[in-house]
Amino acid sequence: MNKTQYDIKDPKLAPDGRQRIEWAFREMPVVKLIRDRFSTEKPLSGIRVSACLHITTETANLALTLKEGGASVILCASNPLSTQDDVAAALVEYGIPTNAIKGEDEETYYKHINTALDTNPQVTVDDGADLVTTLHTKRSDLISNVIGGTEETTTGVIRLRSLAKAGKLKYPLIAVNDAQTKYLFDNRYGTGQSTIDGITRATNILWAGKKVVICGYGWCGHGIALRAKGLGSQVIITEVEPVRALEAVMDGYQVMPLLEAAKMGDIFITIAGGKNVIDKAHLQAMKDGAILANSGHFNVEINIPALESLAQGKRRIRPFVDEYTLTNGNCLYLLGEGRLINLAAAEGHPASVMDMSFANQALCLEYMVKNREGLKPRVYPVPEEIDKLVGRLKLESMGINIDSLTPEQKKYLASWEEGT
Ligand SMILES: NC(=O)c1ccc[n+]([C@@H]2O[C@H](COP(=O)([O-])OP(=O)(O)OC[C@H]3O[C@@H](n4cnc5c(N)ncnc54)[C@H](O)[C@@H]3O)[C@@H](O)[C@H]2O)c1
Repeated sequence: MNKTQYDIKDPKLAPDGRQRIEWAFREMPVVKLIRDRFSTEKPLSGIRVSACLHITTETANLALTLKEGGASVILCASNPLSTQDDVAAALVEYGIPTNAIKGEDEETYYKHINTALDTNPQVTVDDGADLVTTLHTKRSDLISNVIGGTEETTTGVIRLRSLAKAGKLKYPLIAVNDAQTKYLFDNRYGTGQSTIDGITRATNILWAGKKVVICGYGWCGHGIALRAKGLGSQVIITEVEPVRALEAVMDGYQVMPLLEAAKMGDIFITIAGGKNVIDKAHLQAMKDGAILANSGHFNVEINIPALESLAQGKRRIRPFVDEYTLTNGNCLYLLGEGRLINLAAAEGHPASVMDMSFANQALCLEYMVKNREGLKPRVYPVPEEIDKLVGRLKLESMGINIDSLTPEQKKYLASWEEGT
């Protein structure tokens, strides 16, 4: 590996990173099974993979699995604040060029994406679609060599679908996010736990008795609400979709417009995938001491420029906690600069849940390479057989058996004749 291919904070952090990568791997039995098979079958032999992912212990285990499958992998961060610098250092030691430094500015962030693209990738792995977007705009000369790619998160899939709708998507992509074994677990239980973890590590607040306002009751919102409720918080949901709002009501939460909730909340968590979800008028209505956190993909969910404009002073009162003193005298506390808090202030999702997301990633990349001739420039779902396989292997790894349909039951379910 040549030195121009990687950029990390400090190579001396590698031993810590190695140990944490090993620790995470113990909780990734499905990825381990795939890695074992890849090491003999080499399904990605000679394939150049550029991956833009949160640089965490789990991502390291995915990258090592792809390498074991014969790929040459280069990594860059999918968020300026989500990198674990010790993991980045360990990855370089493992022979995987990594371009990621926690707290990097936007210019460095894009420099790193461009370095990952300089290897002329045949396959892309993205989380949020910044790599794919850069490839389609500033580096379109490289696109003819790309076989296909995968996308990890809801926001990235939305961006890719709109690229496809505009007729501008140039190669096939698989929406890994949309696998049942991804969004039902990673988005719900992963984001649920890790968001609470990030806010707790940043603030050390007691959740019991707090009024927690969650903006967006999608799969991630479901998980955060469930965990906040479990810790004794009073949960208020804000939504724009009637069915999801109704679901929140029947799940036992208060539902109201954000402008009303703004006056009541102690903690606000955006997880909508939208822009300016918490806007100027909401900030002006909030109580003194309100805490603001985002766990959605981009740092645009809280209108930070509006917060800056309302403030007469700002100080960093703790790591990942910025105190804004407003001209009305109230203090508001923005966590992790509005970047996804579970990765900014904590370690992201637990390995056990990323096991399923990254098993889907590895199997989809294998599928993409194997079926490259038949795929068109579209956003494809994860093949059902992959989704089911990941679910089955995860259950097996947990030592849980389930029933299967009898021939009679199969026949019944496939027929229309039998009724009352
Ligand atoms: N932090 C993480 O580790 C992590 C993990 C997975 C996904 N994500 C990101 O979290 C975001 C949400 O993902 P999801 O899978 O839950 O998406 P989703 O589409 O299932 O849910 C989003 C919900 O937000 C609602 N919404 C949109 N605009 C709103 C607004 N202005 N006010 C209130 N509600 C609004 C939508 O109606 C929808 O119900 C995305 O940006 C996704 O990429 C983050």
